Amino acid sequence: MKQRTTTALLLFLAFCAGAAAQSSRKGLKDAYKDYFWIGVAVNQRNISDETQKALICQEFNSITAENDMKPQPTEPEEGVYRWEGADRIANFCRQNGIRLRGHCLMWHNQIGRWMFTNPDGSLVDKEVLYERMRRHIHAIVGRYKDIVYCWDVVNEAITDDPNAAVPYRQSPLYEIAGEEFIEKAFEFAREADPDALLFYNDYNEADPVKSVRIAEMVRQMKEKGVPIDGIGMQGHYNIYEPSAQDVDAAIERFSHVVSHIHVTELDIRVNREMGGQLKFKRDAAAITDSIDRVHADRYAAMFRVFCKHSDVIDCVTFWNLSDRDSWLSEQNYPLLFDRNYQKKRAYDAVIKARKSYRKRRK
Ligand code: G3I
Repeated sequence: MKQRTTTALLLFLAFCAGAAAQSSRKGLKDAYKDYFWIGVAVNQRNISDETQKALICQEFNSITAENDMKPQPTEPEEGVYRWEGADRIANFCRQNGIRLRGHCLMWHNQIGRWMFTNPDGSLVDKEVLYERMRRHIHAIVGRYKDIVYCWDVVNEAITDDPNAAVPYRQSPLYEIAGEEFIEKAFEFAREADPDALLFYNDYNEADPVKSVRIAEMVRQMKEKGVPIDGIGMQGHYNIYEPSAQDVDAAIERFSHVVSHIHVTELDIRVNREMGGQLKFKRDAAAITDSIDRVHADRYAAMFRVFCKHSDVIDCVTFWNLSDRDSWLSEQNYPLLFDRNYQKKRAYDAVIKARKSYRKRRK
């Protein structure tokens, strides 16, 4: 009798240990499974290193290529395609059953100048631009349509200047075709993949002036039949701004024009800069315990807002895996994992934030 009790006890303890191990392997994606997918932007190192690969599979159920699927890296010259980096990320997703966000089809940055210039450097006319845009979009969207569930079709086409007479960024693409290049990009993406969700993606999207401009542009284009399914809120924030109220108001505003919102590039830096601009401070203040607490509280506040809107938010993606990978450099302390891929206080704060909501996903 005693022997059987001991065996039963040992089996029970083994089961508990297995369950504990299993639950310790659960991550952000499991905590938020009833709300939205949790994504991460990856580089080639993240999908080659065993520790980082395991962390990605444990924590996330959506992936974005940080750089490898952008116009310039994939087609540096007209008709010359470089698929290696994007293929490795797409194959990692296929092998691990992780959905892939396509980023991005048309952007004023990281785009080959050949797309919009003649050999003498002058701008092409819009017919030539559209031919080149269409060929590029069909090539990349067609190549990854089995694994890519949505695309950032156009990135950052709205100006940051609150006093601008015209709400659009004065990029070469805009100079050639006005806002029509935006409409054409969505048209070509829809032609290439009838099923993928198509997003307009931008930063400082919670700014009261810019969020109105984004919503108004999307509303007008949808009225003309442009196939825009969603708005990507990049979410490059800091520990001071934007307020949870502004983020809440922007989501509310966007939810009146689209059925799908993605937070596409979330990071929270410990200084007063924000947005996707490439010029930013790298010499952030020393990370004190109180700054670490404020950082964690800000992430919790943002996730409470996202949970409130989980009926329209499908996915929240972190821009980079750890502080070491961040485009902002680790001094800006922007993410949930530190330079050694260890959880920071903000990780636990994000997990706890979900407990404030019992609401089920739509
Ligand atoms: O690939 C070249 C390499 O060959 C060269 O040796 C090296 C040094 O010059 O540069 C490498 O290219 C860099 C590229 O990242 C890949 O690492 C570019 O210089 C660098 O500017 C580029 O930065 C990326 C930035 O977009 C470009 O605008 C960041 O990693 C990336 O995180 C950032 O992501 C953007 C989103 O796509 C859109 N929203 C804003 C966000 C932050 O700017």
